[in-house]
Amino acid sequence: MRTFPNLAILGHPLIKHKLTVLRDRCTPTKDFRDLVAEIAMLMAYEVTKDLPTEPIDLETPLEPTTGEKVAGKKLTLVPILRAGLGMVDGISRLIPSARVGHIGLYRNEQTLEPVDYYFKAPSAREQRDFFLLDPMLATGGSAVAACTTLKNAGARSLRFLCVVAAPEGVAKMLAAHPDVPVYAAALDRQLNEQGYILPGLGDAGDRLFGTR
Ligand code: PRP
Ligand code: URA
Repeated sequence: MRTFPNLAILGHPLIKHKLTVLRDRCTPTKDFRDLVAEIAMLMAYEVTKDLPTEPIDLETPLEPTTGEKVAGKKLTLVPILRAGLGMVDGISRLIPSARVGHIGLYRNEQTLEPVDYYFKAPSAREQRDFFLLDPMLATGGSAVAACTTLKNAGARSLRFLCVVAAPEGVAKMLAAHPDVPVYAAALDRQLNEQGYILPGLGDAGDRLFGTR
């Protein structure tokens, strides 16, 4: 298995378990959606473990004390439509103050090149950490284009969270955006001729939304 300096695999046992159910072709749409949300939440727990905190004075019902609250840059979640939407709710439950932007991209089925159709995100003028969300990193075309769009809009601090990554996509991200760490629940073997990840989990958007 290749290793990549830009890739962190989040191999918590619960993530592995849920991913195994997610891959199963027999898993129905409702369970698929719940599992993507739960995996995203567990991934966010790990990805945010370096967030700075600051001391806060408060009073418990018994006495004054000092606690800690998350400090530093505000967080923005940016799902790549459609499938990235499935990751937003789980992470928002953990980080309710996070803002949400959207990037609309789909892959041309013949060329596998990304086609963009929508972009709206909170201003990057205030310093923000952007978490780009998409369950699938296949050729990497969509992820690279989404990072470029966000950087052109002023984003400086970016992380890419996906459920399943292909080596081809991680390598493309490393070449185009070496400053963007990629977090995945699994690094799979390869792409097939149609650009699907093997063993993968199929078409994430279709399985999330019950299309096709
Ligand atoms: C899927 C997936 C990624 C992209 C990954 O979206 O959700 O966005 O393909 O492939 P890549 O790494 O080769 O670019 P798709 O284009 O199927 O759009 P959809 O989510 O609207 O179905
Ligand atoms: N997009 C998906 O949804 N699945 C893949 O395997 C590749 C791209």
